[in-house]
Parts: sequence; C-alpha cells; structure tokens
Amino acid sequence: MQPLRSRWNPSLTRLLRAGWVALLALLLAACHQDMYNQPKVQTYDPSTFFADGRGSRPNVPGTVAVGAAQTDDYLYTGLIDGVEGDVMPFAVTRELLERGQEKYNIYCAVCHGESGYGQSMVAQRGGIVPANFHQQRLRDVAIGHFFVIITNGVYRGDPERDGYQSMYSYASRITPEDRWAIAAYIRALQLSQNATVDDVPPELRASLGN
Ligand code: HEC
Repeated sequence: MQPLRSRWNPSLTRLLRAGWVALLALLLAACHQDMYNQPKVQTYDPSTFFADGRGSRPNVPGTVAVGAAQTDDYLYTGLIDGVEGDVMPFAVTRELLERGQEKYNIYCAVCHGESGYGQSMVAQRGGIVPANFHQQRLRDVAIGHFFVIITNGVYRGDPERDGYQSMYSYASRITPEDRWAIAAYIRALQLSQNATVDDVPPELRASLGN
C-alpha cells in the first residue's frame, strides 16, 4: 500500500497555493490603506468652509493662464483707441496668406463663397444674404474691420423682421492670429477682383499677351 502523501496530486497543491495568494491579494486590496477615505471636496461640491458655500474656488483676479498673456492690445482687439486699425499687427508673408486662405475656405467660404461675392450654396438654399466683399464699402474699410467682424459676428436683430442677416462670432473657434490671416486674405481676394495691368510686375506683363 502506498503512503497517503504520494496520492496527493502535486498540481493540486500548486493550485491551492495560488488560491491563497489570490485571496490574500483581494483582502489587502479591500483595505484602502491609501488616502482614499479622507475628507475632500469633489468638483462642484458645496463646502461650508468658504463663505460663499462653494467648494471650487474662483480664479484670483488677474490670473493669466500659461501661454494666454495678451500683451498686444491691437492683436486681440483690432482697435486703436477704439477705432478699427488699418495695419496688420505682424508681417504679411506668403505663408500667412496661404494660412488665411485655408481658414477662409474652411470657415467663411460656405456662406461668402470662395471668391467672396457672397454667393454660395448656403446663400442659395438657406435664405441668408452674406456680405459681398467686393462692394465699395468693404473695399474701403480698415483691415481691422474684418478682424472685428470675425471676432464679434454681425447681429442684424430679429430674423422675422430683418431676415437671416446675422453672422455668428468666430472668437471661440478661430485664434486671433488666424483671424488676422483671414483678414489679410480677404484683402488679397479684393485685390484679385480689382487688379489692373499696372499691378503686374513689368517683367511679367509681356506674358499676359498684351
Ligand atoms: C453662416 C453664414 C456665414 C458665415 C459662415 C460667415 N459669414 Fe460673414 N456674414 C454673414 C451674413 C449673413 C452677414 C451679414 C450681411 C448683412 O449684414 O447684410 C455677414 C457679414 C460679413 C461681413 C460684413 C460686415 C459689415 O461690415 O457689414 C464680413 C466682413 C464678414 N461677414 C466676414 C466673414 C468672415 C471673415 C467669415 C469667416 C471667418 C464669415 N464672414 C463667415 C454670414 C456668414
């Protein structure tokens, strides 16, 4: 007769041992020996600690988020002493105009049309009358006007009375730098529709065939 011990299946022993380890791990995990159960305020929780009863604290007045310091008034308002300025706040380069074109085609062309005449599918089908950038008034305005319009939108009051003549503010969707890039591109669009032979550099005029 074999001794009792040898009838034990060694793999069964291993299984039991593993079971103990798993049970221990479970028990330990349930202990929360971290700082799980401490008094704390969660987002938007009320609090009796502060006089205003709010757990979340407002920003200290004058707080500026990292990277959000607005040190150049003109760049962020388009205004000089309250009047729309007629200069770009930074240099106009080919890259900037291409950036403006890209953003214009994304955000504005849907209504104002790719060449800026205010003709688009939205205008045709939506009953909206977007401005034509080639009208004399908009050719004469300061470049800051475009920045101000993109920033604030256009409000023409009651749609019942005035038709759908309003335009949304793009301040939350287009960065100030890109708004200026679009403004510069609108100026390029205006030039493109009103150019004369004199605007072509002399050395290239011959290639026009006249
Ligand atoms: C949903 C359609 C729509 C989109 C998109 C749109 N606009 Fe307009 N925009 C309008 C309408 C409508 C008017 C008002 C026309 C009017 O006053 O008769 C207008 C007016 C304007 C004017 C003329 C303001 C003035 O002096 O009267 C400018 C400039 C302008 N938009 C620029 C832009 C630019 C730049 C973008 C892109 C960032 C843009 N719009 C996107 C619909 C739109």
